[in-house]
Amino acid sequence: MNKITQLFNIKYPIIQGGMIWNSGYKLASAVSNAGGLGLIGAGSMYPDVLREHIQKCKKATDKPFGVNVPMLYPNVEEIMNIIVEEGVKIVFTSAGNPKTWTAFLKEKGITVVHVVSSSKFALKAQEAGVDAVVAEGFEAGGHNGREESTTLTLIPMVREKIQIPLIAAGGIATGKAMLATMVLGADGVQVGSRFAASFESSAHDDFKKTIVNLEEGGTQVTLKELAPVRLIKNKFYQDIQELYSKSPTVDDLKILLGRARAKRGMFEGDLIEGELEIGQVSGLIHDIKSVAAIVDGMVAEFEDAKKSMVSF
Ligand SMILES: Cc1cc2nc3c(=O)[nH]c(=O)nc-3n(C[C@H](O)[C@H](O)[C@H](O)COP(=O)(O)O)c2cc1C
Repeated sequence: MNKITQLFNIKYPIIQGGMIWNSGYKLASAVSNAGGLGLIGAGSMYPDVLREHIQKCKKATDKPFGVNVPMLYPNVEEIMNIIVEEGVKIVFTSAGNPKTWTAFLKEKGITVVHVVSSSKFALKAQEAGVDAVVAEGFEAGGHNGREESTTLTLIPMVREKIQIPLIAAGGIATGKAMLATMVLGADGVQVGSRFAASFESSAHDDFKKTIVNLEEGGTQVTLKELAPVRLIKNKFYQDIQELYSKSPTVDDLKILLGRARAKRGMFEGDLIEGELEIGQVSGLIHDIKSVAAIVDGMVAEFEDAKKSMVSF
């Protein structure tokens, strides 16, 4: 038992990060059934779709699971009401101010965790009354912090500032990385990219194949003027770079991004024009596996690494 397994009543302190177009009820329930904590990613779901996924998740697992709500998307109020109506017990908020929804959710008896990318915001989340913080380093897939702190530097800095449980994210796909972040002060880990390349992820098969074929340097953070995001360097990414060479305005960037790029890329499998989000750790992901194999493998490697640590 540790602070995170206790907080969520789970076996292993491994959380599957909410991921637009990847983390529906199939992924979330598989992670929870494997002993971790699965999160349904509400960011890519219309409110009715989210309700359906929550109901299906309840049928697919009798273990705890939660919902991730990125607060930058529309319909947040409707989504929060559905979460309460459906009796969801755990919510991870991200991409917004932790003060906005924490008190509302806590009043309903919901455990609240907020995702940050700096120690300053970790402290703000603690002050807002959250139960735990996810600190996500710059190597992570998805949207990133402007500070560019890597996981290796971020975790000990956040640990210095906050007293509540701390979950490390960004670049963690193995038991060794899990051990490393826990040595640095984390109580548990949130894993994204590794679970995106699982059988149970709802992403398109061609996106999953692209992840396992990516090499070191295959991703880069861009669109900092809108919301920094780490993307695979495909044609869409190259188009962004070309636009940057012409000193674009924010509106120019918005027009290029357009609508539904992420759905087109990750869900529909348009590898050329779509937005493909994944972390730097994709360079270490060589196969598409079941969630059970991923979780069991991480736990076994964690235990082995702990035993084989040498002193000098
Ligand atoms: C495809 C993809 C989509 C993501 N979407 C979200 C999201 O909707 N909400 C969120 O809070 N984080 C999102 N993230 C971040 C993950 O929840 C997680 O924190 C991150 O992937 C951890 O870093 P890693 O990719 O190195 O494991 C996303 C990440 C990826 C790879």
